[in-house]
Amino acid sequence: MHEPKAIRPDVFWIGVNDRETDLFEGVWPLPRGVSYNSYLICDEKVVLVDTVKDKSAVSYIRKIKELAGGRNVDYLVVNHMEPDHSGAIRQVRDEFPGVTIVGNAKTAKYLADFYGITDGIQVITDGETLCTGRHTLQFFLVPMVHWPETMVTYDQTDKILFSMDAFGGFGALDGGIFDDEVDIEYYEEEALRYFSNIVGKYSAMVQNAIAKLKGLEIRAIAPTHGPVWRKNPGKIVELYDRWSRHVAEPGVVLVYGSMYGNTERMMEAVARGITEAGCPTVRIHNVSRSHVSYIIRDAWRYKALVIGAPTYDTGIYPPMNHLLNLLESKKLKNRVAGLFGTFLWSGGGVKGMQEVIQKLGWDQVQPVIEARGAPTAEDLKNCMNLGRAVVARVRETCPG
Ligand code: FEO
Repeated sequence: MHEPKAIRPDVFWIGVNDRETDLFEGVWPLPRGVSYNSYLICDEKVVLVDTVKDKSAVSYIRKIKELAGGRNVDYLVVNHMEPDHSGAIRQVRDEFPGVTIVGNAKTAKYLADFYGITDGIQVITDGETLCTGRHTLQFFLVPMVHWPETMVTYDQTDKILFSMDAFGGFGALDGGIFDDEVDIEYYEEEALRYFSNIVGKYSAMVQNAIAKLKGLEIRAIAPTHGPVWRKNPGKIVELYDRWSRHVAEPGVVLVYGSMYGNTERMMEAVARGITEAGCPTVRIHNVSRSHVSYIIRDAWRYKALVIGAPTYDTGIYPPMNHLLNLLESKKLKNRVAGLFGTFLWSGGGVKGMQEVIQKLGWDQVQPVIEARGAPTAEDLKNCMNLGRAVVARVRETCPG
């Protein structure tokens, strides 16, 4: 018997923790796992809100049966079709025959595309409600909060917002499920990494969703990953609002690549300039060592990104190219940038990085330093000046 985790007397968290998967979506590291949150409402009708990844279906179905006490599941609300939440739909249909799947028109299409399911679906429209006895559920479409079919479900009775991936984050739930019973600073950090890695590209749609839900009285936010926010649901909304407006904190992220130590010496000089200018918040990443997930998280948090790398095959150093491709794809805005690098017989590295910064529309600070072979004393002096100039621009544009 599992210990039921009740949000309200008849509303339960029935998610699962995944401490096996190394990379979320095959891309993003999960050093402390991830939770797939699902919820069960035991009303006159029994309602499931979202499911879990298919690999966890056996223990998940067992939990539902224990809590439902022999009753069938009447409705399965599908807020989001990505398979970390829809993966157990087939098993739910097999175990609870006659269950009605509730989703929007796009949900219905993806149910067919992923699982060949074309029957037993109740298609709802924006704002529609479903009464299940004591509870009335209202559905709001929030398209492209990172997939086209994304929607949220608002329990009008208990004022709980089942928000799918919005307001979620990485990290398995270590015993507690609520914001007031876990190490919330850790989960906030992982929420930023999740946001910047997965959702940030769709910031405009997150802003639309926040505006749309603004008038609702919300006592708890129950996302599909990470803690349930019952003590302070306003906190995670405020964080998502800041992050999706690309608001930064004062600080510098310094990312470098180096093959033989020359660009690394330049990086150390830039770092010294940053610190001498009185900015204690500097996060240094070796682009060949730090996973891009963490660099993107830090870039989303802090105002300035200073990048330096050698020229490689007459272009951008490959690990730096990977990072810059992702930053361009994620469309991070309103940042201050600094650039440095090395070359020998052909340039191209710094020029290539500069082109990406221009495409992103970032505020590029001078000087740009490109050393031939090993940096000279003059180059290193200029690197310190770059560090100072970046801090000065951060102060002007991001008072903190
Ligand atoms: Fe957690 Fe977009 O799936």
